[in-house]
Amino acid sequence: MQPLHAPFPATRFRRPRKSAALRALVQETQLAPSDFIWPVFVRDGEGVAEPIASMPGVSRLSVDKVVEAAREAHALGIPAICLFPYTDPSLKTKDCAEAWNPENLSNRATRAIKEAVPEIAVMTDVALDPYNIDGHDGFVEDGVIVNDRTVEALVKQALSQAEAGADIIGPSDMMDGRIGAIRAALEAEGHRDVCLLSYAAKYASAFYGPFRDAVGASGALKGDKKTYQMNPANRDEALRLVARDLEEGADMVMVKPGMAYLDICAAVKQAFGAPTFAYQVSGEYAMLAGAADHGWLDRDRVTLESLMAFKRAGCDGILTYFAPAAAKLLNG
Ligand code: PBG
Repeated sequence: MQPLHAPFPATRFRRPRKSAALRALVQETQLAPSDFIWPVFVRDGEGVAEPIASMPGVSRLSVDKVVEAAREAHALGIPAICLFPYTDPSLKTKDCAEAWNPENLSNRATRAIKEAVPEIAVMTDVALDPYNIDGHDGFVEDGVIVNDRTVEALVKQALSQAEAGADIIGPSDMMDGRIGAIRAALEAEGHRDVCLLSYAAKYASAFYGPFRDAVGASGALKGDKKTYQMNPANRDEALRLVARDLEEGADMVMVKPGMAYLDICAAVKQAFGAPTFAYQVSGEYAMLAGAADHGWLDRDRVTLESLMAFKRAGCDGILTYFAPAAAKLLNG
């Protein structure tokens, strides 16, 4: 192998760092607004933006405000927005029927966005937790989260999202076999061009805490999600999950959380070369935004540095609550 550098002083690494122009010229990785998917929380009402205490700067938005957000995102060059509904506790049931109600919050928001800003891609979330009286992503029977019956429900939920006009469907539930089942149903029902972005390597993480507040699932959740989400200690399993989901018909795959799992992002991209996304989750956002609020970190710089790290690791894009702020910084 060639040595990676000639000896000093033939090589002075500081030469191309001398000016902004030279640094730009040798920069290996680029970050742009087109790398972002912006997750937003949707709630009922009109003209409402309700701040989320554990996610400073993030609010639950009523559908009209979500449409405004989509318009803003599109103007900033952000290609996709991802919807997470805050479901009224009275609509949470054992059978989770609200999940495939054509008139549920997520479907209403999807239709409203696609009507007002058809250019932006709408991504929706497939999982039962916002609608489940037990707070889990799947049905609970005798204290066990059951797989196959849950998959049948997830298929109904995904179809209702496709009917509403979702461009990208994101199963975040981690049940086995759901990608294949959803893909088959989408094909059978004529939704051939709906993308599946599988939450393929999703870990049972403590970094989801603020999200569960945001969607109102914290109170309902009994126990933990360790029988379906991954053990943070595992890497080989992530590769096997990604292989499985791509084979079952996923167009894109996700690693989640992000910053503590960059090794997984890199390994997945390297092994499969598939469109690979990371989710910089609520807890990661809260850490950075909270510290910035205290003046302990420089908000703008840590925002961009944390997002660049995903690109350097090999990700094609990032789901991030910083999307509009970062896009503004990048657009200058
Ligand atoms: C659940 C879901 C979660 C997130 C997205 N979808 C939380 C969980 O698994 O409990 C977390 C996102 C975040 O923390 O920002 N279907």
